[in-house]
Amino acid sequence: MKIISVVGARPNFMKIAPFIKEIQAYNKIHNNTIEHILVHTGQHYDDRMSKAFFEALEIPEADINLGIGSGTHAEQVGNTMMAFEKVLKTEKPDWVVVLGDVNATLACSVTAKKEHIKVCHIEAGLRSRDMKMPEEINRLVTDRLSDLLLTPDTLSIENLKEEGATDKQVAFVGNIMIDTLEANRDKARLLQIPQLLKVNKLEGQEVYFDEKLNYGLVTLHRPSNVDDKEVLEALVRFLLDEVCQDMQLIWPVHPRTKKNLQSFGLWEEMEQHPRMILQYPLGYHELLRLNMDASIMLTDSGGLQEECTILGTPCLTLRWNTERPITLKEHGGASVLVGNNVGRIREEYQVILKEDRKPIRPELWDGMTAGRCLTAILNY
Ligand code: UD1
Repeated sequence: MKIISVVGARPNFMKIAPFIKEIQAYNKIHNNTIEHILVHTGQHYDDRMSKAFFEALEIPEADINLGIGSGTHAEQVGNTMMAFEKVLKTEKPDWVVVLGDVNATLACSVTAKKEHIKVCHIEAGLRSRDMKMPEEINRLVTDRLSDLLLTPDTLSIENLKEEGATDKQVAFVGNIMIDTLEANRDKARLLQIPQLLKVNKLEGQEVYFDEKLNYGLVTLHRPSNVDDKEVLEALVRFLLDEVCQDMQLIWPVHPRTKKNLQSFGLWEEMEQHPRMILQYPLGYHELLRLNMDASIMLTDSGGLQEECTILGTPCLTLRWNTERPITLKEHGGASVLVGNNVGRIREEYQVILKEDRKPIRPELWDGMTAGRCLTAILNY
């Protein structure tokens, strides 16, 4: 059997790592019967957004890199489709495996189906019902086209069934990202926080981290939070003027966010604030280590919401909706949706500040999802 797996952007890398390990283990016992080709579309190309994750998570170098890079969504998707079509015509795989909801997921599932190749979507069935999110469009199209839909939770099965998916198409496998978390917890635990902050400090910055003081973690990259000056400025003011009164904040800044903070004239003040610790985008183990002991997380990332659920870190999700309701408090999780209205964020911040860690483990988030993914493909 020949499988092509596709990755493109940072959140794909932690999901592909356990799947590739599973194929390698299978091949050891079964005489290399699976031929696996890893394709990187090249959407994320900075070393810290891509290469660092391949190294830290021991992902073999991609067999093929499409070198797509940045651009508008149409450019990224269109260029990926054209380049991936050539790969498919040469390689003729039995399966294309796509992950999550990034532009690579959409572009490569559409291209594969047009070439009559079976598509397996890992992390199928998540729905935010927010059609302004590019990821929601990517999820809807990919799931509609996929032959095999592997879901992280049972709510996702309901979503897929409502949209007409059949029993044969859907399998509940659990959350593959938690495989990576469980496999790397011990290694992350060994990292020393002051040391890792020094290694990842921005050029020209000094890091003053007080080990006796609590710290929170901030990550923001969604266009709805970082592209509008008024919105981003209000968030930054709240973080600097209010949250930094209570604790230190560590903020690994996404390239898009950094660009906007600089052009909106907000960067300098942040850089100079003694309790705001700005960092380059962090590696997998580094962010996991920080998440383990953070007092709170303020984020618009879906993956971090999930990791906070397992680690129990109180999490304010700066979005109005989520495709991952299982991570929310009402489902027993650690996260609260607060959007980007400072009044609402402040209210929930005061509540969450007094809370202790409450780790929970949703069904099948057990570190063994990759095995179930491969079995589902082999048994299809
Ligand atoms: C993408 C995913 C999003 C995911 C996020 C994680 C889609 C639609 N979005 O969004 O779901 O949560 O990755 O990071 O696929 N840039 C660099 N270096 C890089 C990559 C990007 O400088 O290696 C800059 C470029 O200016 C680029 C901008 O960041 O234009 C945004 O990158 P892009 O790949 O368009 O989307 P993300 O916002 O990262």
